[in-house]
Amino acid sequence: MSKFRKSFHIKARDFIRAGEASINVQNLLKSMNFDSRLIRRIAICGYESEMNVVMHGGDGSLSIEVDTGKLVLEVADDGPGIADIELAMQAGYSTANDDHREMGFGAGMGLPNMKKNADQIYIESVKDQGTHVRMFFFLPDGAKTD
Ligand SMILES: Nc1ncnc2c1ncn2[C@@H]1O[C@H](COP(=O)(O)OP(=O)(O)OP(=O)(O)O)[C@@H](O)[C@H]1O
Ligand SMILES: [Mg+2]
Repeated sequence: MSKFRKSFHIKARDFIRAGEASINVQNLLKSMNFDSRLIRRIAICGYESEMNVVMHGGDGSLSIEVDTGKLVLEVADDGPGIADIELAMQAGYSTANDDHREMGFGAGMGLPNMKKNADQIYIESVKDQGTHVRMFFFLPDGAKTD
């Protein structure tokens, strides 16, 4: 089947619209009849990535690609970047500020949750240029991809 890719914009610091990109990805996958457990894992990864862009990143996007045998979820932003990716991946590590914590964020569990729910995760980040996270979800043999 041919590849399919769709992207949704994410605006940094826009807490009113935060979550819309991941809901759009979720609705798209539902309309394509993917397995509900798979959609749930992708929705968790999408939401955590989107909130990280809103809180810590710069403007960016969330994209979903449907490919033969796999789905690829990508989030990219042009923010400050992650200085130490290994440290950021540790459960409980967070640079969230008081405002974020008052809204219930800042447990330092977003990246660990993404790692747990994706089959593979790759993070690239360059200081003052931004962050790019790719997550792969492999489909069982014979699963519907079109
Ligand atoms: N897109 C990003 N740009 C810059 N820094 C980021 C980005 N995503 C994550 N980080 C850094 O990695 C840290 C850990 O991220 P993680 O999602 O695990 O926790 P959190 O966002 O702080 O809290 P939680 O997700 O539990 O609400 C963040 O506190 C931040 O310092
Ligand atoms: Mg987070």
